[in-house]
Amino acid sequence: MDVASRAAAIEYAIRDVVVPAVELEAQGHAVIRLNIGDPLAYEGLPTPNHMVAAFKAALDRQDNGYSPSYGIPELRTAIASSESSKGWGCSAGDVYVTHGVTEALQIIFAAFLEEGDTVLAPGPHYPPYMAYPQMYGGSTTEYRLDSARGWRIDLDDIRSKMNDSVRLLVLINPNNPTGNVATPNEVDALIEIARSWPKCAIIADEIYDGLDFTGHHCSVASRSGEVPVITLNGVSKVYFAPGWRVGYMAWHDPLGRMEPVRDGVERLLRSRLCASTPAQYGFLAGLAGETGWMGGHRARIQERMGYCLNRIEAIDGIDCEAPGGAFYLFVRIADPEMAADDKRFVLDLLHQHHVLLVHGSGFSPEFGQGHFRMVCLPPTEILAEAFDRIESFLRS
Ligand SMILES: Cc1ncc(COP(=O)(O)O)c(C=O)c1O
Repeated sequence: MDVASRAAAIEYAIRDVVVPAVELEAQGHAVIRLNIGDPLAYEGLPTPNHMVAAFKAALDRQDNGYSPSYGIPELRTAIASSESSKGWGCSAGDVYVTHGVTEALQIIFAAFLEEGDTVLAPGPHYPPYMAYPQMYGGSTTEYRLDSARGWRIDLDDIRSKMNDSVRLLVLINPNNPTGNVATPNEVDALIEIARSWPKCAIIADEIYDGLDFTGHHCSVASRSGEVPVITLNGVSKVYFAPGWRVGYMAWHDPLGRMEPVRDGVERLLRSRLCASTPAQYGFLAGLAGETGWMGGHRARIQERMGYCLNRIEAIDGIDCEAPGGAFYLFVRIADPEMAADDKRFVLDLLHQHHVLLVHGSGFSPEFGQGHFRMVCLPPTEILAEAFDRIESFLRS
């Protein structure tokens, strides 16, 4: 039986490299995994107890049934007030709860894209922005993030790539994998570009917004008076519960331009029933409860990131821009031969020294090539061991 081309075309670099790592582990090798953006995989960054208790309480009171397709009303209201606190008027009716941002993306692409339509996304980017649009007849074009200027968005490149086929202009802010945080001026300029293209909406993926270390992060919706913006966020990163699979989209559409698409989105949401009911209560507790714990988690991530940056600076053959947010480092491989095949670099390191990274070309063949992405989430003892191994790999 033949596989459908849409499935055969799917690649997800972050998990594809796990296959050889699992083989090595089965042979008894201890692999240090720095590939996946999951804080729960390491010590010191747990989901807070009050959120876990709320999830458990929902299970105990038999809240295990289907829930409304757009999300439980209390959670939609709490998300709306959280988004409103970021500077725009979000109401509960603007919020749709999904199985993570990843499901929201599939639904948005399914509702927006016809044959020949384009998604204009940053290069490098989180892989589903490239993998999914082709499932709906569309395709992804990348706009350039400028590696020489801290991976800032290249506004001229966006301008030159806008046309009538672009239905969605994506900003991932803070960015995965580079950690760049766009300034309010850059966000305004991006909105201004989209304003000239009335068939185009902005996707603002702000899933790392609570992990902004620059102090200048802003919500895109809060700065748009006219251009439609769909904000994406959820429980995975800032609330440290990625395995719960709860996220949301919040629609900001001041001129009502997206109404027909919104009807399509609502139909799709109803047809896939609902997001996990007890997990939604867990997220609700996170939004409604005290958030003092976040400072501790953020400080731990910054400390670990600082350690990584120091080690990278001291190792010949690699260098890295200091990220403004999130918990990734997008590291440049200096040696041109090694850089030319970054997947080989990652696999050789894995086989010879048992450290698992992700090749930069997995985030963008054009703009990510010659890099690797690592997470800075493990405790420093583990990071220290990983860097020792990377150093001896580069020396050899
Ligand atoms: C930019 C970005 N968006 C979305 C996601 C996934 O979000 P979720 O767990 O809500 O599906 C990730 C996960 O790494 C990400 O980096």
